[in-house]
Amino acid sequence: MQVTKFAIPEIIFGSNSLEYVVPCAIRNGAKKVLLISDPGIEKAGWVDNLLEFFESGKLNWVYYNSVDSNPRNYQIEEGANFYLQQRADLIVALGGGSPMDTAKGIALVASNGGKIDDYEGANQIQYPLPPMIFIPTTAGSGADISQFAIITNVERQVKMAIISRTLIPNISIIDPLFLQTKPKWLVIASAIDALAHAIEAYVSVLATPFTEIQSLKAIELIVNNLEEAIHSSTLHNLTNLCIASTAAGMAFSNASLGVDHAIAHSLGGKYDVMHGLMHPVLLPAVMRFNFPASRKKMAQIGEIVTKDKGHTEEETAFQGIRTLESFFKSLEIPLNLRNLIPDRSKLQEASQLATQDACILTNPRHVTWEDCLNICEEVW
Ligand SMILES: [Fe+2]
Repeated sequence: MQVTKFAIPEIIFGSNSLEYVVPCAIRNGAKKVLLISDPGIEKAGWVDNLLEFFESGKLNWVYYNSVDSNPRNYQIEEGANFYLQQRADLIVALGGGSPMDTAKGIALVASNGGKIDDYEGANQIQYPLPPMIFIPTTAGSGADISQFAIITNVERQVKMAIISRTLIPNISIIDPLFLQTKPKWLVIASAIDALAHAIEAYVSVLATPFTEIQSLKAIELIVNNLEEAIHSSTLHNLTNLCIASTAAGMAFSNASLGVDHAIAHSLGGKYDVMHGLMHPVLLPAVMRFNFPASRKKMAQIGEIVTKDKGHTEEETAFQGIRTLESFFKSLEIPLNLRNLIPDRSKLQEASQLATQDACILTNPRHVTWEDCLNICEEVW
């Protein structure tokens, strides 16, 4: 077996685990925290909750909330300047993937200098980052676990993937109670993002036994808990979605992703579509495309999804894909690209860009830009 690496942050998991934030910050040397969140999380009252912990723990803090659902390069540079001017020494991010990716970008530029664009691609970071503590409020992005940061370059209209072990936060504090305050559509979009992470990482050319077990567990938990979680919001089901998202994060952070995410990044950069909404549209078509290169693993996924086994790998795999499609349909979410983007004028350009995304390198089947365009046309 080849040498493999598996990197994850310290994880503190469970209801009310938010209260661990101050001791975690102090033991990582914090004198002044930069808190990063967004107006939506403020409105829900979670920023005030967290600041109360900082106040009662006598921890100095400053706050940055210029965060978009697709974080922009200029917001990173502005935030890094703020961090340096304020002489902060630890970053806490509270929210979904956007505040956490913003936090990674700010930590990177504040400690390594230059512009965020300088670090696009894999392993371009030279110096250590300031300590980071992430508190995810959705179950899906895996940004609290992963070595990925996705930042939009507004001039080029591209989502840049920045990949480095140093982007893994020191600590991830995962409190399932956050999910009880989230709208259903966001729980669904986040969970299907996590499902895409699990499936793409499972068939990735970099998958290892350490990532495969996390992928399979994540798929099983999402398939078995999502419906109940959105209908009754029980803490048991929501907790299982958080476990699934964490497991999928461990898998994709170490095995990377594939053509679904490459296309999601390129279309997301061109049309500013929310990331989680792309996967119910793209994932089944991508699974069909990848089947010839990953027959056995696609059949294993099919078996978990359908809880049944066909006569052949092909039958089991395709039954699994059809079951996922019916499942997505039952969730009443957009299932065609035309429902997410205004026109087809940039499909070819986005398909060509997708082949330059770092995620494409680990797809199990070789992908051309024409293949990406065919996938987009198939789901239009
Ligand atoms: Fe994703």
